[in-house]
Amino acid sequence: MTNKPILVAYASHAGSTEEVAEAIATALQEHGAGVDVCPVQDVTTLAPYRAVLVGSAIHGAKWLPEATEFVKRHRTELEQLPLIYFLVCATLREDTAEHHREVLAYLDPVRVILEPLEIGLFAGRLDASRLPFLERMLVKAMKSEEGDWRDWEAIHDWAGGVWEHLEHGEGEAVA
Ligand SMILES: Cc1cc2nc3c(=O)[nH]c(=O)nc-3n(C[C@H](O)[C@H](O)[C@H](O)COP(=O)(O)O)c2cc1C
Repeated sequence: MTNKPILVAYASHAGSTEEVAEAIATALQEHGAGVDVCPVQDVTTLAPYRAVLVGSAIHGAKWLPEATEFVKRHRTELEQLPLIYFLVCATLREDTAEHHREVLAYLDPVRVILEPLEIGLFAGRLDASRLPFLERMLVKAMKSEEGDWRDWEAIHDWAGGVWEHLEHGEGEAVA
């Protein structure tokens, strides 16, 4: 076991992924872990960390570009660390097997760069009033359903599983 902290790095446009990242950090802290939560673009080095969780909101069936960029930029360091991915999206507001398969594929571009130890797939929040003008117009034009579908218990439990995996090599890949 190491005393180094865990990094939860996230990319978020309207705040829901940031709040999911914070909830994951809180759950890890409940197990005694030191955790830093940080936007991906603010991370300069991974040297202080024992493990890295990277998560992003989904736009256009992909992670936000800055999250993918983070994995590319830190690829060499990430190859040496336990790495976990998560995503936050609207499709999983209905958690069907088909939607699960669909959103898992959102991670294909980043899984080609590096394969993670575990994956978390979470329903998020779509609230047009929190979006920048162009995205708000897009959401309105597409008549997208708005709501907050985050399942805090599921997020908490998933983070507990990640902790078990990191500590004892136990737990199973959620995807
Ligand atoms: C412009 C735009 C595109 C989106 N594209 C997708 C998508 O392709 N698939 C999906 O499941 N959700 C999509 N969403 C929903 C977001 O992933 C969801 O609202 C997420 O919780 C946003 O995270 P944030 O609040 O951290 O920005 C989209 C949202 C916006 C605003």
